[in-house]
Amino acid sequence: MTIAGKQRKVKELLRKNKAVLLVHYYQREEIQDIADYLGDSLGLSIEAAKTEAAVIVFAGVKFMAESAAILSPEKTVLLPRLEAGCPLADTITIGELDDMKKNHPGAAVVTYVNSTAEIKAASDICCTSANVDRVIRSIDRDAPIIMAPDGNLADYAARITGRNIIAWKGYCPVHHFLDPDDVQELKDRYPEAVFAAHPECRRVVLDLADYVGSTGGILKYVRTVDAEIVIVGTEMGIIHQLAKQNPGKTFVPASPSMICETMKYTTLDDIVVSLEEMRNVITVPEEMGAPARRALDRMLAVS
Ligand code: 13P
Ligand code: SF4
Repeated sequence: MTIAGKQRKVKELLRKNKAVLLVHYYQREEIQDIADYLGDSLGLSIEAAKTEAAVIVFAGVKFMAESAAILSPEKTVLLPRLEAGCPLADTITIGELDDMKKNHPGAAVVTYVNSTAEIKAASDICCTSANVDRVIRSIDRDAPIIMAPDGNLADYAARITGRNIIAWKGYCPVHHFLDPDDVQELKDRYPEAVFAAHPECRRVVLDLADYVGSTGGILKYVRTVDAEIVIVGTEMGIIHQLAKQNPGKTFVPASPSMICETMKYTTLDDIVVSLEEMRNVITVPEEMGAPARRALDRMLAVS
């Protein structure tokens, strides 16, 4: 079947099952193009919480589908490829977070949404890269703050808020290994270009950036910035939307290695099978779901 044929099939099954397709910007182009809602992690959480559809199909990675299941436990949440995980989310165990809490009694625990349901459940509030500033500022000035699992996001948050943050040193391999020398080389090759970077990159890379923000933030920035060439310091999947929204501009990936393998697992065929068989339902046990929901709801309230 052609790609267009598969896209039609997915649309038909979505209608039949009263389902919505939520898609992250790092997904394959042919899936982005048929999304009912396409967004960054924050936008996807908001949409998952408010949709009236009975079924949510998540084209993203597991923590995103889990967040949808936590926020809407009465809905059926499908993750077409169960093995589509996020290596960053797996960098901390509950035992390690418990140790941090023991070592820093009274600290508020802020968890990046790129985390497991178990870690969210042990947290006071969640954040995404789009709202980290507001989330940190919502915490009592005198309270120490533990942030997990992304050490680079924690470092960025500490810098923009001036707060002292005790960080878990997890990282996203796609962003962490972006080499500042590669970025500098591109900046030298395209002196008129701007460089937009995701806060999961290291400080040495963010120091070279004209803009730092979530995927949604980068899209907004590029729509308004007066530059014809943009060096893109995040996963390459976003370039599809950047190019669609800004036909006159040129986008240069900061590195050819910025591809998130697990974000690319999901195919149109997987979505068809998942919808036809109602297969790969994501659920979170309520004893974990309830405290995790509290942490996500607190985040949504300050967003
Ligand atoms: P955003 O929240 O910016 O969409 O990022 C999600 C993610 O997985 C970044 O690597
Ligand atoms: Fe996880 Fe990084 Fe992939 Fe985002 S890009 S899903 S943080 S591994």
